[in-house]
Amino acid sequence: MAFYSEKVMDHFANPRNVGEIKDADGIGEVGNPICGDMMTFYIKVKDNILEDVKFKTFGCGAAIAVSSMVAEMAKGKTLDEAMQLTNAQVAEALGGLPPNKMHCSNLGAAALHKAIENYKSKGK
Ligand code: FES
Repeated sequence: MAFYSEKVMDHFANPRNVGEIKDADGIGEVGNPICGDMMTFYIKVKDNILEDVKFKTFGCGAAIAVSSMVAEMAKGKTLDEAMQLTNAQVAEALGGLPPNKMHCSNLGAAALHKAIENYKSKGK
């Protein structure tokens, strides 16, 4: 059986920032080609800073914990700082993921980056 860190269990059981931002400035959606799970990130930007970050994830527990952690780590960051966030950093912040669940961490930062790119493409 896979072993999860306390942080993963906590973010899975009490995910932060779940939901949708109705008037989001950017939306990023990615699918995991390995398992077919989906993750969508919504961002609200003010003065180049991520004022709000929310997500909806149709995926496994690890993917939900990853989304929750990405949203927490990204909030309050500048767009450039958020673009530097990597999947490895997220997995590390969660105290690691079991090897067979590392692919679940691949969606988090990618969905966030896509939302930022979506915002930038609107040329606001
Ligand atoms: S099994 Fe699909 S994201 Fe984890």
